[in-house]
Amino acid sequence: MARISASVYTSHVPAIGVAVDLGKTQEPYWQPLFAGYELSKRWLEDNRPDVIFLVYNDHATAFSLDIIPTFAIGCAAEFEPADEGWGPRPVPKVIGHPELAAHIAQSVIQDDFDLTLVNRMPVDHGLTVPLSLMCGQPQAWPCPVIPFHVNVVQYPVPSGRRCFQLGQAIRKAVESYDEPLKVQIWGTGGMSHQLQGARAGLINREWDNAWLDQLIADPKACADVPHIDYVREAGSEGIELVMWLIARGAMSDVNADGARGPAPTVRHRFYHVPASNTAVGHLILENN
Ligand code: DHB
Ligand code: FE
Repeated sequence: MARISASVYTSHVPAIGVAVDLGKTQEPYWQPLFAGYELSKRWLEDNRPDVIFLVYNDHATAFSLDIIPTFAIGCAAEFEPADEGWGPRPVPKVIGHPELAAHIAQSVIQDDFDLTLVNRMPVDHGLTVPLSLMCGQPQAWPCPVIPFHVNVVQYPVPSGRRCFQLGQAIRKAVESYDEPLKVQIWGTGGMSHQLQGARAGLINREWDNAWLDQLIADPKACADVPHIDYVREAGSEGIELVMWLIARGAMSDVNADGARGPAPTVRHRFYHVPASNTAVGHLILENN
């Protein structure tokens, strides 16, 4: 059977992708940020999964105000990097895993989560920047990736609780796939940032770090944080953090019946301010 071996959490910021693409990662502004991912890149090489299930948000790139799926699973064989206004990033195309994606869709939808199935979906910085941070600049991404989009851009957005429950259903789906695949689940976006309005530029280190502590140690309580707290404390775009709860909910210490398996090992934790307008948070949790 397939299993989830680890979860990875990281912010995305379009400027990080530009820094990679233009060879600026060692410039003084960027060097401390990329230094925080050196261990992660080595870890990913040493712990290469067969598939990455990558939870991210589209930023009005593949979707527009015409159609806004709350949760959308990418079932295609491949996904092209999107043109976000400056041309597509010069990164490899994303190879999907249609068989596992279809299986997860079947299982999760039968578990009452109404996913949207997407068979054509250009992927923006929400997906390509986490891959660049974790993999650098390879000729091809290290394995197939299933893109899983969450609407955190246009209200109403899903609650942290719903995302956490969805993570549990995704784990059940993965564990019922009849092939011994090692799957990583990545939760991306966040941490505190606000790109608009009177509070543009908001960063909240204290809240971010307390939230990380709780995500690691007491994810169920973290899932109960109401959406307004994210907006108030972490800024309007801080709501991207609910996507991390999908990945956290898929870990082995979380069970719908309340029974808890062994806590995951924190392989890496990193926090850096600023990257553009955003507080960057990063975690690697390994299942035990
Ligand atoms: C920035 C952060 C984001 O999450 C995003 O989607 C776009 C821009 C920023 O900090 O510039
Ligand atoms: Fe974003």
